[in-house]
Amino acid sequence: MSIVLGIDIGGSGVKGAPVDLDKGEFAAERFRIETPEESTPEAVATVVAEIVEHFADQIGKDTPIGITVPAPVRHGRIPMIANLHADWKGLEAEAFFSERLGRPVTVVNDADAAGIAEVHYGAAKDTEGVVILTTLGTGIGTAVINDGVLLPNTELGHIEVDGHDAESRAAKSAKEREDLSYKEWAVRLQRYYETMQMLFWPDLFVVGGGVSKKHEKFLPLLDLETPIVPAALLNSAGIIGAARMAADRA
Ligand code: BGC
Repeated sequence: MSIVLGIDIGGSGVKGAPVDLDKGEFAAERFRIETPEESTPEAVATVVAEIVEHFADQIGKDTPIGITVPAPVRHGRIPMIANLHADWKGLEAEAFFSERLGRPVTVVNDADAAGIAEVHYGAAKDTEGVVILTTLGTGIGTAVINDGVLLPNTELGHIEVDGHDAESRAAKSAKEREDLSYKEWAVRLQRYYETMQMLFWPDLFVVGGGVSKKHEKFLPLLDLETPIVPAALLNSAGIIGAARMAADRA
């Protein structure tokens, strides 16, 4: 059994768990700490270190660690940041976390990790062709995967739809901020997904993020030619995918 530690850094929480990669499941209960309000790399790294410490007895000294961030990660470096402290921009994140934790660390985009998890263990398992996973949370994250191969760092939550950065209108945070009903929010999701469909014609959309638990309230309201299904791994997908990507790299 191969165990790798996955950690998911989000706008509201930092969550981690050891992952059993044979099963694509947590090997121990998830541990979550609130994201520090001043979400600088230093402050978040302190929280990440606490999570690693929490599982220290359950993982080996050289166990790889996979960490997701809500940003693109090109060869370990974060070129832009939308929903965490501006100090993340330009950070050599892999070197930073590896040094801080004293272990081999792989840092990947959160949606890419969720996409890899859904393709290997979840809603897109055995799907041939192009799968686009979207996470609806603080922002909109995207993963584009063709026959199991990821095109990393797509930032399609930021495509312009009706003159707006798509995530500013269609993320879960927009629903909350503007107190939209599911029906009202679905109108915006419809515009988002029909634009994505027109641009990519994927074989499948998978909808992740915590709100995918409530998928029956909004997915049936969407009218698309492309099948659209809820994520199977819900909030675990980022952690599981991060672990998987770290193992694939090790
Ligand atoms: C970021 C993406 C991230 C997504 C979900 C967007 O604002 O630019 O990198 O995947 O939010 O967290």
